[in-house]
Amino acid sequence: MRVIKTVSEMQVARHSLAEPVGFVPTMGYLHAGHISLVKQSEKDNAATVVSIFVNPTQFGPDEDFGEYPRDEQRDLAMLEKAGVDAVFLPPPSEMYPDGFSVLVEVEGITERLEGTARPGHFKGVATVCNKLFNIIEPAKAYFGQKDAQQILVIKKMVTDLNMNPEIVVMPTLRETDGLAMSSRNLYLNPDERKAATVLYRSLLKAKEMKQAGEHDTEAIRGALTGLIQAEPLAQIDYISIADSTTLKELGNVSSQALVSLAVRIGKTRLIDNLVLT
Ligand code: PAJ
Repeated sequence: MRVIKTVSEMQVARHSLAEPVGFVPTMGYLHAGHISLVKQSEKDNAATVVSIFVNPTQFGPDEDFGEYPRDEQRDLAMLEKAGVDAVFLPPPSEMYPDGFSVLVEVEGITERLEGTARPGHFKGVATVCNKLFNIIEPAKAYFGQKDAQQILVIKKMVTDLNMNPEIVVMPTLRETDGLAMSSRNLYLNPDERKAATVLYRSLLKAKEMKQAGEHDTEAIRGALTGLIQAEPLAQIDYISIADSTTLKELGNVSSQALVSLAVRIGKTRLIDNLVLT
């Protein structure tokens, strides 16, 4: 497995890889969710590249860029074991040299949910993914359903800017109690970790209600609000029941309804989502 730290070296190395190349962008502190993307890429492609880059432009000034967990050695060991061909691990100065001045803005879909809660976040995500796609030139790039809005943003960028990679979406991997795997789960103390299961319990509640014939989103939102408010360590940021492609809020649940939650557990902000079938 090659470990590459500069853009120029990556651009050269990329052309010695077998085609097609699959790509998994990450911010590191890897878990089984990330590895599931890697495994799918290995199934679909002749070579797989993973990037590890805690992208400063997608963090707000009051967010956790400084504290975001990093463990290069552990990540590299996991990727080596998974059989990855190359890891791209640039320092911030490689991706954003002095004078860097271009940001990619996807309009519309970013003006909701995470885009509203985290101003500028998706500009950072779109910009870094655009750069990574240009450097790595993958045939396919793999993203997790855990970050549902991120997928819509990346797909829109790829379509509108005529970019090449096919975007492949993989299901959310969960701990045995339902908590979606996330690098940020590390921030949770044992009490918070227990409280954090309220996100998935709420998503399941929404699914149950729909299956029992409840189609009024206000009734579902009300039930979820009650469930989350009953958890003393949890504070609701948003509960959205929206069309899964436009993210427009729905009055009635359709077959395409996406329930998205952002909830603070103590100081840690967690997100999760489920498509109601
Ligand atoms: P990061 O949070 O490290 O996630 C990297 C990829 O892993 C994303 O596509 C994310 O949706 C996916 N992922 C995270 N948790 C998952 C889980 N429990 N199950 C399945 N997939 C999961 O998302 C980012 O990094 C960044 O925004 C990035 C795209 C790398 C741009 O900086």
